Amino acid sequence: MRLREILEKRFSENDLKQVKGSFDIIGDVAILEIPDSLSHREKDVVDALLEVHPNIRTVYKKESEREGVYRLRDFKLIHGDEKETEHKEHGLRIRLDVRKIYFSPREGTERQRIAKQVKANETVMVMFAGAGPYALTIAKNQPKVKKVYAIEINPDAYRYIIENVRINKLGHKIVPILGDVETECMKYSGKCDRVVMPLPKGAYEYIGLAADCLKKKGGFIHYYFWSSKDAIEDIKEIVEVDLKTVERKAKSMKVRKVSEYRPKVVKFCIDIKVE
Ligand SMILES: C[S@@+](CC[C@H](N)C(=O)[O-])C[C@H]1O[C@@H](n2cnc3c(N)ncnc32)[C@H](O)[C@@H]1O
Repeated sequence: MRLREILEKRFSENDLKQVKGSFDIIGDVAILEIPDSLSHREKDVVDALLEVHPNIRTVYKKESEREGVYRLRDFKLIHGDEKETEHKEHGLRIRLDVRKIYFSPREGTERQRIAKQVKANETVMVMFAGAGPYALTIAKNQPKVKKVYAIEINPDAYRYIIENVRINKLGHKIVPILGDVETECMKYSGKCDRVVMPLPKGAYEYIGLAADCLKKKGGFIHYYFWSSKDAIEDIKEIVEVDLKTVERKAKSMKVRKVSEYRPKVVKFCIDIKVE
């Protein structure tokens, strides 16, 4: 039985309306959204969740939006102990602590979509690498990839990339780099076939830098951003302008919807073929 179905039996219509339908499960940690008006029923929501997912050991309630450079949010512990967890995704093991680093289990399909495009012998740059889910997915799906560079500014996330590379036995393919893409990317100027930019809040600042990482013959940039549907053409124009600053241009731009972010705002990815 699904959580919603259990709650429908136990909650009034008014209370039910306030429970957010979707929740995230990362390893054995669950993350819920429960409004303050329903805090007196927190325990009932947790009990119902544990009936549906008996393997959950820790439950957090979201206490803020994601903030800051590291894209972290505040949580309140409402069940179990605060601890790191290990998430399984398409045969990968991803260790992390949701309090210290960004991770979204909702993007597994998108990571697969990107990884499937990577060809043998490619050198790939993953900017904003987090605990390494894109880098790991690429290296696992394309064993003949030459190298995957994974740049991350949050030292906790960087430590997890190192650990995740080790436990997935991908150390011969992935190079974790601690630092700011602003300074680190320059070291890879002209060396890459593909750049992944999974930072919807602010990746636009680095499009020129990403293009500069590509080999002279060109390559691909996967650029993530939030937008309303009607602003897509403007965003494509901004991409063109940014590419021009490093004397590159787009041969094609394919826009994909990744997920609903909030009402009328969608997370998109443009796969940009750069020449
Ligand atoms: C939206 S998260 C994505 C993390 C990971 N790629 C994932 O999908 O789980 C963006 C990450 O970029 C990192 N970050 C933000 N600004 C950065 C910068 N200038 N240089 C390197 N990393 C940065 C943050 O610490 C955060 O871990």
